[in-house]
Amino acid sequence: MTPSRVLLLEAAGPESTALAAAAVASGHQVHAATDPTTHATYPPDLKALLTGSLLTDFTRPGQALNDIIGYARRIGANALLTANEYLTELLAHACAALGLPGNDPDRAHAARNKAAMSEAFAAHGIAAPRTRIAGDEDALRRLLAAGKIGFPCVVKPADAAGSAGVTIARTPAEAVTAWRAARAVRGMYGLPLDSRVLVQEYADGTEYSVESVTQDGQAAHLCTTAKTVTAGMHRVETGHSLPAALPLHLEHAVHRQVERAIAAAGIQNGASHTEVIVSPDGRCTVIEIAARLGAGHIGFLLQHALGIDPWTALWDTALGRPADLTPTRRAHAAVRFLTAPGTGRLAAVHGLPQPGPGIPAVHLRRAVGERVEAPRANRGRLGHFIVTSPDAAAAERRADHLLAQVTIQVTPEEAVQPKRVGAGT
Ligand SMILES: Nc1ncnc2c1ncn2[C@@H]1O[C@H](COP(=O)(O)OP(=O)(O)OP(=O)(O)O)[C@@H](O)[C@H]1O
Ligand SMILES: [Mg+2]
Repeated sequence: MTPSRVLLLEAAGPESTALAAAAVASGHQVHAATDPTTHATYPPDLKALLTGSLLTDFTRPGQALNDIIGYARRIGANALLTANEYLTELLAHACAALGLPGNDPDRAHAARNKAAMSEAFAAHGIAAPRTRIAGDEDALRRLLAAGKIGFPCVVKPADAAGSAGVTIARTPAEAVTAWRAARAVRGMYGLPLDSRVLVQEYADGTEYSVESVTQDGQAAHLCTTAKTVTAGMHRVETGHSLPAALPLHLEHAVHRQVERAIAAAGIQNGASHTEVIVSPDGRCTVIEIAARLGAGHIGFLLQHALGIDPWTALWDTALGRPADLTPTRRAHAAVRFLTAPGTGRLAAVHGLPQPGPGIPAVHLRRAVGERVEAPRANRGRLGHFIVTSPDAAAAERRADHLLAQVTIQVTPEEAVQPKRVGAGT
């Protein structure tokens, strides 16, 4: 049988690399599309997985789409896929043009851009935070002066990811500072981003995500993931645990909202990651949806806890074959992220767990001497470890105990320049 040829939009990063490796393990020939700068950072073991690469310029989306379609036709691609948040819209358009299984290109913008998402959620009757859009600082000041914004509120860029530029503001002055910080965020590849800023009602409660795989418009929910999130102005995810056991009636209510969000974002063939907040009285609010599997090692947790291979399942979905999503195990898995206590040079890391039974992965991605920052976004993470256990509470206890043993020392640097934030940046 001739091997399938598959094209992965971006192969860098843990989830994308896992997709490349799973495709090779299934006997597919894997090609990657990326930009020259990112391609230069591909490690040799990733390059060894790839049959070929398309180097394109994502900052010119029209040209990038033509490049991807042309390359896919040349290699006779049977499937296209991405794990990269910034490329999901491009993927939907490319799949549609090539007649390959993918998502609705007319709705793909709503899965990426939070302003469009908020409109799509409202049109589909989804329980989501009330959202106002402040295109410029004057618009924000007008909303504040008219008393249209309650506090706390959440200020976030329309078009970013990884919690970058997201602030919980408690006062009008904080909202203005937060607006400028949201405006200053830059996307991956230097992509031109929608510069509008959202001001959202704050949803109080416990945060979860739902990982789903949709085939021909039928969604299967793989699990609910509980999040550990920092408190304060900047909510950075510091851990995920799965599967989270919600009371059945609540799980049904959450799935109903998630299914509406999947439809609103035009997800027909592929993964989705839906973030929800459940209030103390059991109301579910959808914060956002992404047309990809959850990042932050959630796919690896699925493998460890439930024995589901999401990478192979996603290629099968992209190839239009039935995906095997049946759990083969009933355990629990948790990831904890290592973060710096402050900004400066990483001086030392002590007490890191060793991989072994119940600790399948430990990874420190920053070296001593490198400049690190207190986390204001997911990008600030220094590394992670994963814990597994047959018991949910035991997995949590062990993960939190191991994290408490880790000491991260940072030498403050007087020369560290504050991040430039302001109008016009
Ligand atoms: N309306 C809201 N109410 C309460 N908390 C919120 C709200 N919006 C965002 N948050 C908090 O801020 C975090 C980041 O916001 P959001 O998910 O919208 O940004 P993001 O850049 O897409 O993040 P990521 O890519 O990490 O999911 C959320 O995970 C949540 O903790
Ligand atoms: Mg989010």
